Amino acid sequence: GKGGYDHYMLKEINEQPTALGRSVSGRTDSGGEEVDLDGFLPGSFDGIDRVHLVAMGTSYHAAMYAESLLARRGVPARAFMSSEYAGSTPPEEDGTLVIAISQSGETADTIAAVRAASAERTMVATNVVGSSLTRECDDTLLVRAGPEIGVAATKSFSAQVATLSLLAERIRRDAVGDPSPDAAAFLSALTRLPDQVRRVVESGAAERIADAFADSESYFFIGRGPGHAVALEGALKFKEITYEHAEGFTAAELKHGPLALVTEETPVFAVFNGGTDDTETLGNVKEIRARGGPVVAVAGGETSDLAETVDHVLSVPSTHPELAGVLANVQLQLVAYHAAKQRGRAIDKPRNLAKSVTV
Ligand code: F6R
Repeated sequence: GKGGYDHYMLKEINEQPTALGRSVSGRTDSGGEEVDLDGFLPGSFDGIDRVHLVAMGTSYHAAMYAESLLARRGVPARAFMSSEYAGSTPPEEDGTLVIAISQSGETADTIAAVRAASAERTMVATNVVGSSLTRECDDTLLVRAGPEIGVAATKSFSAQVATLSLLAERIRRDAVGDPSPDAAAFLSALTRLPDQVRRVVESGAAERIADAFADSESYFFIGRGPGHAVALEGALKFKEITYEHAEGFTAAELKHGPLALVTEETPVFAVFNGGTDDTETLGNVKEIRARGGPVVAVAGGETSDLAETVDHVLSVPSTHPELAGVLANVQLQLVAYHAAKQRGRAIDKPRNLAKSVTV
């Protein structure tokens, strides 16, 4: 059942601390020394030169997130929508690892991508033991989110990013030969994430933001790096359960066209990573403010400077810049949830959608 929550989606949003805890626990230590990913012993990824990630929807956004984590660790990586993989990918070279990401393990487009892959090695990161993709792929990595009933993927995204964070660090160690320079800080931040997510879900701030922008025409979401993946995911969640127009962009993209859409009626959610790239994102936010667009910054740490520029700050606990996106994403899940609830939408079963897309 829904365990006292109005919707499975809200229950699953609240389960994220537990889901993340399961994804991370026993797989690393707070000292950031070890990465112990089930059967993937050190050396498992020797000889891997590049990674192709294939997925759809929310799982594609986790793939984009992982692409950024791998690339920053010196492992060339590209995320593809599964449906585009066979038709538009350069032939795979030796040393390519194809990783499918799928909550259900049953997504037809992703199964087709894996079948089309000529890579020597394929693996799937999935939430479902014994699913079709586990049979199609050479290796399986479980994301351990627990059963997800709501059509809108929530806890599976967080658990995917946590699991892929560990995988990125494992692949880096094997492919490059040593831990990433920032490994200790990154992995210890990962172990703190479950508690930080709990603080976000308990804060209640997202509901006030959803109320403040209940009458808008269109909702935009921007970010860069991992924050770009989160911007796309924030927009997807918002449109699929509220039925309002929502669109995600990389922060720098606006001035190349979409700024034409920005008015006082188009709130923009800006995801800040808490790293050196925040300065550029703030520059993009000022361009939006100059056109009258209301801005909600989703940001961690000390935000008093930011608060002078934007209309609202949805704050998150401060963490490693590569993990801030997970916390920002939880805030955006809650904004979408409350916006959909105000509109009386069928949150757990939005119109025209199914939990697993097997056609
Ligand atoms: C959105 C959503 C879908 C799925 C997509 C892939 O909330 O749930 O976009 O993410 O259909 O599904 P899986 O991960 O099962 O392959």
